[in-house]
Amino acid sequence: MADPTAGNGPLLTGVGVGPGDPQLLTLAGLAALRDADLVVVPVRDDVDEVGYAERVVRHHLPDARIARAPFALTEREGVTPRRAQAWDAAAALVVDAFAAGAATIAFATIGDPNVYSTFGYLAASVLEGMPTLTTRTVPGVTAMQALAAASGTVLCEGREPLVLMPVLGDPAELDAVLACDLLAGATVVAYKGGRRWPALRDVLAARGRLAHAVVGSHLGRPDESVGPATAVDAAAGAELPYLSTVLAPPARGGRGGKL
Ligand SMILES: C[S@@+](CC[C@H](N)C(=O)[O-])C[C@H]1O[C@@H](n2cnc3c(N)ncnc32)[C@H](O)[C@@H]1O
Repeated sequence: MADPTAGNGPLLTGVGVGPGDPQLLTLAGLAALRDADLVVVPVRDDVDEVGYAERVVRHHLPDARIARAPFALTEREGVTPRRAQAWDAAAALVVDAFAAGAATIAFATIGDPNVYSTFGYLAASVLEGMPTLTTRTVPGVTAMQALAAASGTVLCEGREPLVLMPVLGDPAELDAVLACDLLAGATVVAYKGGRRWPALRDVLAARGRLAHAVVGSHLGRPDESVGPATAVDAAAGAELPYLSTVLAPPARGGRGGKL
C-alpha cells in the first residue's frame, strides 16, 4: 500500500465498505470517505441506480459529494469493448475531478477493494494517464465473512485450506477443486455463481458438500436471505441473484479436530 502521507499529490483511495450493512464499514473506511473531496461509486450500467456501496456511503455521510460510474457489470468475461469503454469513462471522470481541483478521491466498493473489485481496474486505468498518482486501499469486510457470521459457519480452522473462487462458467471447475486431494478438507467459497445455482448445487451434492453448505443473498440489505443450501430451490433454471455467496465447509469432527 502506498503511503498517502508521502507526498501532496493526487490520492485515489479504494475503500471497502463491506457487503451492504452500513454497520460493517470500518472506522478507517469512514475516515477515508469523509476526507475525500469526491466519492466515486460503481453502478452496474445506469447512473440513475443507487448501488450497495452508495447506500453505505450515504448512510454515514448524507452530504458527501458522490459521482456514479457505470462499470458494465453485466458483462460476463474478458475485456469486452463495452467493459473497456466503461473503465475508460470512469477513469476520465476521476482524472477530470483531479484536474478540477480535487486532491483526494475515494472509490467506494462493496466488500474489500482487493477481492474481485472494480477498484483495481479503475486504479490501473487512471494511472495510465496520471503516473504521479498515489493509490492506496482501505480493507473492508468481505461477503464471505459476513455470510460466515450470519450463518454461524466457521470459515476455516486448524489445517483447513480456504478456497475462494468465482463460479461464472462451467461448475466443472468447482468439481475439480473439490476432487483435488490437497483440498479435500478445504472450505470452498463460491462467488458470482447465482446464475449457475442448479449446476453448482448438483456439484456440491455429488461431492457430499451440500449438507453443511449455506447460501446468502443480498447480505446486509433489508431483503437479505441466509439459509442452508439444502433449502434453496433446486429446480432447473432456478437462479439466485448475482449478489449471492455459497460457503461449503468440510465435514468437521469434534472440538479442535482440524488442528
Ligand atoms: C465482484 S465480487 C465482489 C466481492 C467483494 N469485493 C468482496 O470482498 O466480497 C461480487 C460477488 O461477491 C459476492 N457478494 C458481494 N456482496 C454480496 C452481498 N451483499 N451478498 C451476497 N454476496 C455478495 C457475490 O458472490 C458476488 O457475486
